[in-house]
Amino acid sequence: MNAQKVARWIASLIADGGAVALSGGTTPKPVYEALSDLPLPWDRVHWYFGDERFVPPEDRASNYRMAQEAMLYRAPPANVHAIPTVGVTLDEAAARYEAVLPQRFTLVLLGLGSDGHTASLFPGSAVLDERVRRVAAVPEKDPPRITLTYPALEDADHVAFLVSGADKEAVLARVRAGDQSLPAARVKPKGELRFFTDSD
Ligand code: 6PG
Repeated sequence: MNAQKVARWIASLIADGGAVALSGGTTPKPVYEALSDLPLPWDRVHWYFGDERFVPPEDRASNYRMAQEAMLYRAPPANVHAIPTVGVTLDEAAARYEAVLPQRFTLVLLGLGSDGHTASLFPGSAVLDERVRRVAAVPEKDPPRITLTYPALEDADHVAFLVSGADKEAVLARVRAGDQSLPAARVKPKGELRFFTDSD
């Protein structure tokens, strides 16, 4: 995946500001690092998270920590909306985060797990059926997760999957073929859906 190309595309979408939901994991880190070098309107972009591991922000597993170290150090702190993971229960965290979500995202970035999950929407999870709440707890994982649900992820002008690595090739093909048994294939954005992959 060409991180510079993806970063330039993202920058073009938020040239006048906007709201972006970031993906976690490892794939997006080079894209975030490339974005940190671009002249973004940092005072007019608000950053959110598509999901988070329920760990302290300094934990190595934290999606917030990864994004903060790669890019978000460039943003005004008031523009970085982390999912709360300290001093709250899992359900309180989900409720509090839902209260601060924008009605519509300019861009939602998503990753793809080799099992077809995206954000923290895992196969067989009850949150796959959540169509009312926009943020939900995922207590069955270790560590537990907080995730945006389909309604929140789909309320976006643009949704882009960032997928890299030979180990994702088969599951990516199934997602792009519309295999509805895979949570990632069930994301139906109101706006544009794009895939940035190694073959792009
Ligand atoms: C997370 C992500 C998750 C991730 C995929 C792919 O919290 O881990 O939100 O959905 O995007 O698991 O992860 P990699 O990019 O590390 O392969």
